[in-house]
Amino acid sequence: MNSRRAALALFAAASLLAAATARAESAAQVFARSCSPCHGKDGHPSPVFEQQGVKNFTDPAWQKGISDAQIEKTIHEGKKGTMMASFDKQLSPQEIKALVAYLRKLGSPKK
Ligand code: HEC
Repeated sequence: MNSRRAALALFAAASLLAAATARAESAAQVFARSCSPCHGKDGHPSPVFEQQGVKNFTDPAWQKGISDAQIEKTIHEGKKGTMMASFDKQLSPQEIKALVAYLRKLGSPKK
């Protein structure tokens, strides 16, 4: 390989890596930015939202009553007739999966 092509290949690899790291926001960051305004910063909604029927993610009964697949589907599609919008356009399938795991963590806080 001549050195110019090698340099180009290196440059392409470095840009790809930079793009990947920039996108790799943690589920906690995504939750804080996109979900906490309604669901609260620890998954416990503010009283106003709780009155509107927003579930408390820290409640063991809620955790037990919903499957990972249901949570994932709700984040993908939103919930008709509520303020819960679809996040399909903003989040990748991997980010949505990571959020499901994050919601599970909210339900089992460190003792
Ligand atoms: C504009 C306010 C708002 C935002 C932002 C929002 N939600 Fe919701 N969410 C709601 C409302 C309202 C409901 C319907 C009531 C309920 O089921 O808790 C809901 C429902 C849900 C449910 C289903 C709960 C159940 O028991 O069926 C999940 C899971 C959920 N949201 C996760 C998220 C995640 C993850 C994010 C961020 C990516 C998010 N929501 C962002 C308002 C919001």
